[in-house]
Amino acid sequence: MKFNYLLTLSLLSVLLSAKAFGQSAVLQIGNVTGVKVNGQQVDITIDNADAQVSIYTPSIIRVRIDKKKLAPDFSYAVTGKPLTVKNTIEQNDKQITITTDSLKAVIQKKPFAVAFYTPSGEVINQDETGLGTSWAGDAVTVYKKMQDDEHFVGLGEKTGNLDRKGNGYTNWNSDNYGYAVTQDPLYSTIPFYIGIHHDVNYGVFFDNTYQSDFNFGASNNRFSSFGAHGGEANYYIIYHKKVADIITSYTWLTGRMPMPPKWALGYQQNRYSYYPEAEVMRIAHTLREKRIPADGITLDIHYMDAYKLFTWNKDRFPDPLKMNTELNSLGFKTTVIVDPGIKVEKGAGSYERGVRDDIYIKYPDGQAYTGQVWPGWCNFPDFTSAKGRAWWRNEVKFFAQSGVSGIWNDMNEIATWGQKMPHNVLFDYDGKKANHLQAHNVYGMQMARSSYEGAREQFKERPFILTRSGYAGLQRYTAIWTGDNRAEDDHMLAGVRLINSLGLSGVAFAGMDIGGFTGNPTIALYTRWIELGAFTPYYRNHTALNSKASEPWSYGEDVLDIARNYISLRYQLLPYIYANFYEATQKGLPLMRSLAINYTHDPRVLDAQFQNQYEFGKAFLVAPFESSKEYGKIYFPAGKWYDLYNDGLQAGEQDKIVQLNVNKLPVYVKGGSIIPMQSLTQNTGQLPNDTLTIHIYNGDTAGSFVYYEDDGKSFDYEKGSYYKRAISFDPAIKQINFGKADGSFKSHFKLIKLALHGFTDVSGLKTGDQQIPLKDGRYGWLAAAANTDPQGSAYAPETCPIKVAVIKNDDGAIKINY
Ligand code: NOJ
Repeated sequence: MKFNYLLTLSLLSVLLSAKAFGQSAVLQIGNVTGVKVNGQQVDITIDNADAQVSIYTPSIIRVRIDKKKLAPDFSYAVTGKPLTVKNTIEQNDKQITITTDSLKAVIQKKPFAVAFYTPSGEVINQDETGLGTSWAGDAVTVYKKMQDDEHFVGLGEKTGNLDRKGNGYTNWNSDNYGYAVTQDPLYSTIPFYIGIHHDVNYGVFFDNTYQSDFNFGASNNRFSSFGAHGGEANYYIIYHKKVADIITSYTWLTGRMPMPPKWALGYQQNRYSYYPEAEVMRIAHTLREKRIPADGITLDIHYMDAYKLFTWNKDRFPDPLKMNTELNSLGFKTTVIVDPGIKVEKGAGSYERGVRDDIYIKYPDGQAYTGQVWPGWCNFPDFTSAKGRAWWRNEVKFFAQSGVSGIWNDMNEIATWGQKMPHNVLFDYDGKKANHLQAHNVYGMQMARSSYEGAREQFKERPFILTRSGYAGLQRYTAIWTGDNRAEDDHMLAGVRLINSLGLSGVAFAGMDIGGFTGNPTIALYTRWIELGAFTPYYRNHTALNSKASEPWSYGEDVLDIARNYISLRYQLLPYIYANFYEATQKGLPLMRSLAINYTHDPRVLDAQFQNQYEFGKAFLVAPFESSKEYGKIYFPAGKWYDLYNDGLQAGEQDKIVQLNVNKLPVYVKGGSIIPMQSLTQNTGQLPNDTLTIHIYNGDTAGSFVYYEDDGKSFDYEKGSYYKRAISFDPAIKQINFGKADGSFKSHFKLIKLALHGFTDVSGLKTGDQQIPLKDGRYGWLAAAANTDPQGSAYAPETCPIKVAVIKNDDGAIKINY
């Protein structure tokens, strides 16, 4: 009897401790205990958590879950406010169902679990049964069922394959000098990805600034998951049939880029560091003498006095305003680097103003946090506080007074020597108060925001802002570059994937250090990289302190010719590129488009052998390969493709091995494309001639393009001073259409030259009853190299057969039949 009693007691205690262990080690969310419908929002109480599910648009539903009471809503990323949406919300004992025209969420009550469906009932995304949402300590994780053959793309600046299946990633913004191509995390955090399975694709945006972790089937075959070391499970599900629309909805939520200054789209020459003034001027003059079009010179940390922010080294740069004005008159704009660390120095103006305004981040005992970086021991402004940002905006005046046009925000992860910023440093977090763990990943973005707002206030024209670190929504303020890459082939290709992934994640304006930051590229790699740069959104050549010079003339005459050719092509393409940037401001679509955007469900697109290919705008297909390769396999997705250089035709949905030539970047044009171009200029301040050439590539399907022009520098476009018109082409009715121009800006171009590719059978053009003279011609995308090899060197220019017609650029609608 006694024995039985003891046995029962000990069994009971084992069971109890197992339960206690299970509960304390992992807290499962539990069952729904209460539901309150509040308009478009459902407030739910659960055994171990509170949740809120709300409709933002017909295509966006948000889920918030916390084991504590939900805090007042706040986000650095989200600017979109819930729209009033037609919906139904119903519930019974088992579930709650929320339906919009585009999306359905079904919330199971026992236990709480969410699933999303298309209007026709296909599963989009669902919590993994048995796992759902849980906590290990303060770390929350949402487990989603891994759908059959599910794949994942996006997640911002992440290394690795385009297809993220089988991998896990961490977001903790980090300084990564000469990082490995597989390194994770890098500098910025964009917790947004796109899942692809069956015929469905959807976006998940997990808005949480703590260190976050994503698992796409790494070390498990059951789930994909996202979670963070603290804070809420706060995420948005976005569903559209097309990935492009998912990106448009995501950027509706987190904002889009403003129109960039046109000069920032030209070629930028940079190095760590150009100094003194005579060296800067030598670079500028050499670019002009060698007829390498360029718009930007960027100054790295040596322009400062002992690396102190908001100073010029007066020995190296005795009169910065004079130098920058002179650079401006040569058609250059100056961008300068800024780091967040403000040297602790009694009596120094910026530092003292920071103390006066009480803007530095502090330990809990009120002492300012001091960390070491370039200038020595520094304090760091709190960019998450309104007064910290106001202080920085005011300091930015210093650059306006020095004739600077761009601000390059570096080291803003925050990077400090030692890379171990303490967790107990406190941030204002816009009144919410946060420790370093919560504020770390948004610091860089808030610094870039402060620079943007300061420069917008102080500079007379649109500023250019660049950042290394960021968080979701950074596109509202800044462009980004991928930091300290290496001068190696796989880095060039990894850079392509990083920019493509940023583009999938709402950031259209991105670039990489062309030529590589650390180390020295081979001649072939340098050549390939500078060609490729012409087809990236931000085209900047940059290299480190101790590496070989990287200006386009540093690798011999042949390379100089090729670099000039591709940079010149970039300048001729500016009307196309500028209009694509306009599209980014309206729809959030990137310039560099992973094929996963427009050919999502073609499995070859996610195949690692084709993952570096991308579209540049919707006209060009770019296929980058290692510079050492002699042959490359290119996948041509659905469509009809023209070889850029000779118009050779290639059918879609097949791959082909092509001979590679380091002097020529493999680029193809999609049938149906419309590409506006201008005459060559040496910088964007120089006016091209008055003819806008519009290349139209014949295809089987209709093509369209929104042409956009404005003054390229002021904010007048915000008040309607732009020139916008739709251009379309429809082979079914043999028609080319120019819509009526919209906006109050007058186009610079008086004439339109149509350059028709693949219209061999066309013998005449007509507008109304009038014949438009049509001539046969040839077009060469690259100019002849100065020292073309008479034996027929690979870069002797090729040309394409075209038909040419010139019409007046009449602002009214123009209908042309062929
Ligand atoms: C680190 C940046 O990533 C790099 O581009 C820059 O040249 C150095 N800091 C020096 O400022």
